[in-house]
Amino acid sequence: MSNFIDFLMSHSKSYGFIFPSSEIYGGINAIYDYGQNGIELKNNIKEYWWKSMTQIHENIVGIDSSVLMNSNVWNASGHIDAFNEFLIDNRDSKKRYRPDILIRDYLEQNFDSNSPEKKKFLLRLDRYIEHKNLLKIKNLIDELKIHDPICKTKNWTNIRYFNMMFQIHNKEKLFLRPETAQGIFCNFHNVQKSSRMKIPFGIAQIGKSFRNEIIARKFLFRLREFEQMEMQFFIFPDEEKIWYEYWIKSRLKWHFLLNLGKKKYKIFNHENLAHYASLGADIQFDFPFGFQEIEGIHSRRDFDLKRHEYFSKKKFRIFDSKKSYIPYVIETSLGLDRLVFALLSSSLKKEQIKKNEKNSRIILKLPPYLSPIKAAILPLTNKNGLPNIAKKLFNELKIDHKLVYDDKNSIGKLYRRQDAIGTPLCFTVDYETIAKNTVTVRFRDTMNQNRIHIKEISNIIEKETGLKNILKKILM
Ligand code: GAP
Repeated sequence: MSNFIDFLMSHSKSYGFIFPSSEIYGGINAIYDYGQNGIELKNNIKEYWWKSMTQIHENIVGIDSSVLMNSNVWNASGHIDAFNEFLIDNRDSKKRYRPDILIRDYLEQNFDSNSPEKKKFLLRLDRYIEHKNLLKIKNLIDELKIHDPICKTKNWTNIRYFNMMFQIHNKEKLFLRPETAQGIFCNFHNVQKSSRMKIPFGIAQIGKSFRNEIIARKFLFRLREFEQMEMQFFIFPDEEKIWYEYWIKSRLKWHFLLNLGKKKYKIFNHENLAHYASLGADIQFDFPFGFQEIEGIHSRRDFDLKRHEYFSKKKFRIFDSKKSYIPYVIETSLGLDRLVFALLSSSLKKEQIKKNEKNSRIILKLPPYLSPIKAAILPLTNKNGLPNIAKKLFNELKIDHKLVYDDKNSIGKLYRRQDAIGTPLCFTVDYETIAKNTVTVRFRDTMNQNRIHIKEISNIIEKETGLKNILKKILM
């Protein structure tokens, strides 16, 4: 597993997807930058999510609220009191750990996956977490004789709570938002009044969130700065169950359309809920280290709006058919970076072309409509005017599609490079282009090549990589 993640990280860096942040100064733990291909992939995912929310559903609109908010927001939302993780320090290594992760990792490494003993320990751990019994969790660490992975001693402190919000040191107390949702709740009336929408309706947002994760690791999985794609759907209180189930089904369908394989997803129903939730389920994805949450769907009931009504002294009630009520909220919350990780990790393959090991290729089998580059326009050779013809074709087509032109290597190497960044189509200009206005089209996954007229190129790109085809399927 760690070999694969190392390979993925190195590939992501070499091909301009993900770079460690401020690398020239030694980097910063669990913060990454997106490179020239990473940002295109990320923007394509955002477009897919944004359109499936705000274009397909006429009763969902989007907003973009600020990262910094009045700090009363975080009192009202409960994050100042309840957005805590617990931690343990090792006095010798001076390293800080999440005790639950320490225990889970130990059990993972020291017991068979189906071992009944391991299951018993996990059940005990879940129970202690549920009851917030820090002493018993510490006893479990002692009982299992877990030592610090770095300095190997068992010189542990007691377990204590730690608030995960980043505080900015300023004259006034400010926090970096740990979820985008509060910007939506605070703008509930602004959006409702200015859009004249009636319940049920939704507000969607894509934006950065920040959490001071104690154990920030596993590449893009647990970051301290990350992006969320959240949608709050405001409903009549007595329709909670119907909409909760609707959104679980609808979000699962959205994931399935990524075509990574239905077996890669599981629904995990939460018993141990976040402080704001009354119902909660995770869509889990099969990451290289096993099934883990990629998206959360919660019923937040009227928790947030009620608290904002109380703290702000502003009314959050809806008056509908002579009734007055605070709407309930079903929330869908997807981590964009986790999705990038899911896509990269399940698309990166080493494929053997012929039986000979030398003839292998590295390929990124991304869903074509999410690929950073939709097609490459390549000259067969660097001679006899072929680059000029290819460049002219590229300039004509680049208005409609995200393309790349490349003539820096032999054609075989150019194909390999496009395979490695996940470009679904390559169009090659050769001598028949001069004579007959045709090019070859090469398909990334099959490596099949066909000859086509240059007039067909644009339609083929649209047919093979257009988002429209997928959006249509959402409605089916
Ligand atoms: N508004 C609800 C909320 O924030 P959450 O389950 O804490 O719920 C939602 O987070 C999603 O955000 C997760 O499913 C995950 O994909 C992403 N996420 C949360 N913490 C993250 C982190 N430290 N790094 C990367 N993604 C994270």
